[in-house]
Amino acid sequence: MTYSAFPKDFLWGGAIAANQAEGAYLEDGKGLSVVDLLPTGEKRRAIMKGSVPSLTPLEGEFYPSHEAIDFYHRYKEDIALFAEMGFKALRVSIAWARIFPTGEDETPNEAGLKFYDDLFDELLKNGIQPVVTLAHFDVPIHLVDKYGSWRHRKLVGLFETYAKTVLERYKNKVKYWMTFNEINMLLHLPFLGAGLAFEEGDNVEQIKYQAAHHQLVASALAVKACHEIIPDAMIGCMLAAGSFYPYTCNPADVYQGMEKDRESYFFIDVQSRGEYPGYAKRFFRDNGLNIVMDDGDAEILKAHTVDYIGFSYYSSRTTSTDPEVNKNQTSGNVFGSVANPYLDKSEWGWTIDPLGMRITANQLHDRYQKPLFVVENGFGAHDEVDSDGSIDDDYRIDYLKRHVAAMGEAIEDGVDIIGYTCWGPIDIVSASSGEMRKRYGYIYVDRDNEGHGTLERSKKKSFGWYKKVIETNGAELEG
Ligand code: BG6
Repeated sequence: MTYSAFPKDFLWGGAIAANQAEGAYLEDGKGLSVVDLLPTGEKRRAIMKGSVPSLTPLEGEFYPSHEAIDFYHRYKEDIALFAEMGFKALRVSIAWARIFPTGEDETPNEAGLKFYDDLFDELLKNGIQPVVTLAHFDVPIHLVDKYGSWRHRKLVGLFETYAKTVLERYKNKVKYWMTFNEINMLLHLPFLGAGLAFEEGDNVEQIKYQAAHHQLVASALAVKACHEIIPDAMIGCMLAAGSFYPYTCNPADVYQGMEKDRESYFFIDVQSRGEYPGYAKRFFRDNGLNIVMDDGDAEILKAHTVDYIGFSYYSSRTTSTDPEVNKNQTSGNVFGSVANPYLDKSEWGWTIDPLGMRITANQLHDRYQKPLFVVENGFGAHDEVDSDGSIDDDYRIDYLKRHVAAMGEAIEDGVDIIGYTCWGPIDIVSASSGEMRKRYGYIYVDRDNEGHGTLERSKKKSFGWYKKVIETNGAELEG
C-alpha cells in the first residue's frame, strides 16, 4: 500500500494556451489576436508592456504564434501522448478570434466552433476532462483598433456574448471553466493581458484599472452565464500567484510585501468575495483614479463569484524598501522581484522555490476558503537532444517532484486542491520571450526559435516520470 495525500479523483494533467500551441493563426476564418502581433526579439517586451504595435504583422519579423507547434492540425497525436501519460485533464484556451474573428461579428464562425468540438470530443474519448480558459492573452485585434480594447465598456458585452456562445455550444462537454488567465497580468504586461497600448500623455494607471473593472464585470457575467447554462459545471478565476516575501523583518519591508501581494489579490478579492476591498478603494482615492462603474455593476460582482481559485505558481517573489538591495533584481521576472539569497534560479532568472508553493496555496486557502486548482507550474529550460534522440531532463523532474511534494504537503495542511495541470506538457512557445528554446514539456517538439524544425514529437525522460506520478496518484515521485 502506498500512501497518497492526493484525493482519488484529483485532476492530474497539463495546460496549454491556444496562441502558444495551435498556430493556424488565420485558418478557417480566424481573426488576428493581440498575441499574433508579438514578434520574437527585443520589441516583444516593449509591446507586451503597452508601446503601440503595428496592427498588422510586419515583413521581416518572426511571429511565433502564427504556426506555434501546429496543435491545430496535430492535436490527435498530442492527445494520444497525454493519454499515454494517464492525463485526467487538459487545460486549453479558446481563441476568441476563432469564434468571433472581429470580436463583434453578428454570428459566430462555425469552423472555429467545430474545431473545439472536435478537440473536446477527442479529449473525452481519451478519458481527459477539458478545462477551458475563456481568455488566455487573447483579444481580437479589431477590438483593439476600434475600441482601445478593455479600456472601453463595449468589451464587456462583447465578451459576454462570446462566453455565452461557447458555454452553450460546449455545455455537454466541458465541466471546468476559467474566465481570464492570470488576470493580474494586466497591471504588468497590459497589452498581453488586456490588449492595452498607450499613447504619450495617457493616464496609464487610470486606463489599466478601468480596464480591470471591465474585465472583472465581464468575468462575473461569464460566471453568471456558466451557472445558468451548465449548472453542474465549476467556473473559476486565475491568478498569477507567488507570494511576496519581505527581504528583512523590518516592518517597512513586511508592509511592502503585503501591499505587493494585494496588487494581485485585488482581482481575486473581487472575483471571489464579490466586492472591491477597502485597500483598493483607498488606492484609487490616494492616486486620484476615478473608476467609472455602471449602475448594477456592484450587484453583478456580488452575485456572481467564482467556484474555485485557479492559479499559476512558478516562483515566490521578494521585496525590499532598501534601495541598495533593490539593485539586485532577478532578471526575467515580470513581477519585479529582488533576488532571494536563499534560492536558486532558472536560466531565465525565475526563482525556484517549492516551499513557496505550499506557502502560496495555504495563503490562498486561508483568504478565500474555496477549492484551489493549480493550473500552471513548471520549469522552463533548454533541453539537449542526445545523439540517440533521448532527452535526459533530470533538472525538470527535480523541479516538478519538489513542487508536487509541496502541493501534497499543502493538502495535508488542509488545503482543498482539486487538480494540477502543469504548464506546457508538450513544448510550446514561451509567452514572455516568444522562444521555443525555453521548454516545459514532457514531450519534445522539434522546432527552434526561428521556426525551423520538423515539428516531430518525442518523449523526454520526464514523460515516464509523470506517467508514474499519475499512475500512483502522487505517491511515487522518485521515478
Ligand atoms: C504564465 C502564462 O504566465 O506563464 C503562460 O499563463 C506562460 O501563458 C507561462 O507561457 C510560462 O511563461 P513563459 O514566459 O516561460 O512561457
